[in-house]
Amino acid sequence: MSLSARADALEHRMIEELDRKIVRSVLFTSGDRDPTAPIMPPPGGKPDPRHFLMGDDPRLQKMPARPTLLDFFRHRFAPANHLLQSATHALKAGHDEKTVLACLLHDISVSGFIRADHGYWGAQLIAPYVDEEVSWAIRYHQALRFFPDASVGYDYPEAYIRYFGADYEPEDYVKADWEYARNHKWYMTSRLITLNDIYSFDPNAQVSWDPFIDIIGRHFRQPKEGLGFDGSPCAHMWRTIIWPTKFL
Ligand SMILES: [Fe+2]
Ligand SMILES: [Fe+2]
Repeated sequence: MSLSARADALEHRMIEELDRKIVRSVLFTSGDRDPTAPIMPPPGGKPDPRHFLMGDDPRLQKMPARPTLLDFFRHRFAPANHLLQSATHALKAGHDEKTVLACLLHDISVSGFIRADHGYWGAQLIAPYVDEEVSWAIRYHQALRFFPDASVGYDYPEAYIRYFGADYEPEDYVKADWEYARNHKWYMTSRLITLNDIYSFDPNAQVSWDPFIDIIGRHFRQPKEGLGFDGSPCAHMWRTIIWPTKFL
């Protein structure tokens, strides 16, 4: 059995043992399957007597009732090396704490939510809790990554040639956002994310949360009800990270 077939079989067995039907969102499966295609009936054709999963997915770590940003990093997000390396780089370069926080959270959407358009999603996730400049910078770093700025020594990333091919051209909305952002008063904050991003993939670098705990405390307004439960415009996004497989 191939590795992916073994993983599928293991997941299938775990789902069987849960005694709950788990249906993945279209977003989970789109591309692997065509969402417009009809769903196959279960083998054997008998109706499945189990209920759909609502609430905690037992395959995931238990979240505290009032989760903080760090709880999400602990229990839901991918390892934070890239973010910690970027923020460490920014800290060593002597940038202000707002910029360090922007570097620390710039790819939060890739780590824990949605990869496509990660700058935009990441900015929305944190907007109610940080200075507007921080979320603005995160929103636009995605576009800025594609556009060199010789004035600060930022080149088009070589990695992007490997990732996307030499002839890849960003979509029109990315170009339009670059045009908008380059003339904005907060341009340099977003540009600094891209500058600290580019050198941040060293797998041997030693990084720690220690230097950033107080910076988060000073610049991230943690809601007392917990992220997901404060009624903010993005609370539902945090709840979806807590319960990504909830049926409704
Ligand atoms: Fe990014
Ligand atoms: Fe990044």
